[in-house]
Formats: sequence, C-alpha cells, structure tokens
Amino acid sequence: MVDDLSAIVHTMNSVYGFDVSQYDYSFLKQTIEKRCTAIEIKKFSDYEIYLSKNLVEAQNLFHALNINYTEFFRNTLTYAHLEQWILPRLIEKKTEDSELRIWSAGCSTGQEAYSIAMLVEKINAKRQQALRYRIIATDISKSALAVAEKGNYTEEAIQNVRMKDIKEFFVKTKETYTVCDRLKKQISFSTYDLLENRSAYPHESIFGNFDLVFCCNVLFYYKTDSQLYILNKLINSMSEQGYLITGEAERQTVAKHSPLLTVASPSPIFQKKHGGVK
Ligand SMILES: C[S@@+](CC[C@H](N)C(=O)[O-])C[C@H]1O[C@@H](n2cnc3c(N)ncnc32)[C@H](O)[C@@H]1O
Repeated sequence: MVDDLSAIVHTMNSVYGFDVSQYDYSFLKQTIEKRCTAIEIKKFSDYEIYLSKNLVEAQNLFHALNINYTEFFRNTLTYAHLEQWILPRLIEKKTEDSELRIWSAGCSTGQEAYSIAMLVEKINAKRQQALRYRIIATDISKSALAVAEKGNYTEEAIQNVRMKDIKEFFVKTKETYTVCDRLKKQISFSTYDLLENRSAYPHESIFGNFDLVFCCNVLFYYKTDSQLYILNKLINSMSEQGYLITGEAERQTVAKHSPLLTVASPSPIFQKKHGGVK
C-alpha cells in the first residue's frame, strides 16, 4: 500500500508537476481512497495506471487535496476575542502615521479576509481619525482567489454575518450578496504557496512585519516537517508583538513546536511576546 501510494505521489509530480509529497500520509490516503470510490477503481496500483494516462484525474486529485471549505467568522470565539480585546488595543496603540498590517494565509474564497476587514472597519469608525490598514490575502488556489476577488456570496454563505453588517458591507442583487467596494479596497488577493522557499512572505506585502497573521485550517493537511516549515515562515513574518491566529486543529502544533505564547485561551491566538494587551 505504501509503495502504491508512493507511486501515485511520484506520478503526480513526474507526469503532471503536482507535488503532493508534503501532505499528511493519512489525509493523502483517505483522499485517494475517495477518488478510487468515485471512479470505481478498487486498487491503488490500478488507480496509479489510470492516473498516469489521465490529466483530468490528476487535476481532480489535486483539487480534492486542496480543500477550500471556509466560512465568514468561522471560529466564533476567536473572532469575539479579536473584536473585543485584541483589535481595539492593537489599533489604539498605533500612531496616526502607521498602518495595521494583516496577512490571511490560506484565505480560500475570501470569507476570512472580509470577516477581519469588517471588524477593523467597525473599530476604526469609533476613532477620530481612521487608521490605515492593509490585508494581504493569499492562497495556492487560483480558482478560490478568483471567487474571493469577486466577493459574491449566497445567502447561506453569509449566515454567520450579523444583519447590521450585511446591511453595511454587502450589496444585494437578486440572490447574491456582493462585498462592498469599501471593504474590497482594503484587501489584496494574490497567489502564494506557503511551502515555497524563495520568499519569506508574499511579495504583495513588500515586507512582512504583520501585526496579525491568520493561518487557519491549513497546517493540518501537511506532514509535520512541512507544518513546521510553514509555521516558521509565519512567525518570521510577524511584527515584534504580532499575533498568530490558527484554527482549532492547529493549536497543539503551535503550542508544542513554537516559542509563541497563548494569549487568549481557549482561542488559538498566539503572540511572539506579550505586548501590553492584558
Ligand atoms: C480549509 S481552507 C481554510 C480557509 C480559511 N483559512 C478558513 O479557515 O476558513 C484551506 C486553504 O488553504 C489553502 N492552502 C493549502 N495549502 C496551501 C499552501 N501550501 N499555500 C497556500 N495556501 C494553501 C487551500 O487552497 C485552501 O484554500
């Protein structure tokens, strides 16, 4: 089984240029099993033969490995901590000529980046002079980013958004809710592979130094060494007192393998060093 799986990994890379070797073994195995069921193939060895002659299947497998599921305000408690505690103090500490810098790494179809932008807009509205802020939102999936850039969502997709925020930040046309231009202007969506080794942060950001880095529900698809590679990259991109926000599933990895401190337990919010947010 392991050899058959290695052959599939090898074919994906040598024939099609898709490097799937960094995915967690069980996740990879389960995903290939689902593909085999979908096309009624019983053995991994037969699947490998089929795959080697079928570009569409290679694309299907690659797509199945890049799970894009996301939601607005996906982790309610994390967003509550951000809204009530972390963002107000972070923004209060910024001087008028500075900028709040945020990275949504693995942003999928944009809901995470727009959720953060809504929170910042609301806190900013209470300041005498609005603080400049920039959200760099990146993903490896071009198709997910195309959806993010358009910012069109169904009623079901926006069910976690408060009614007054829907009124303020979305424009409704028939059944579609489109994110308003005011929010869109704050976010720059671009392709970036967190595993690539040519750069320390997305080039759109010019330099890292992010006050907030979101990397939620991305790490756990990968093998431990790849998780740690990404984690290290995220930490290096954070400002001195910056925060890292992950998904629930990644909390243990960050707590165990990084020097970051848990600052808003039980939410998976971490900080490089305590920076006065008490
Ligand atoms: C399950 S979604 C999570 C979306 C969002 N962060 C959330 O928590 O709702 C995972 C996203 O990570 C992206 N991703 C996976 N591996 C990546 C990599 N190496 N570099 C950049 N993005 C990646 C996928 O394309 C997908 O859009």
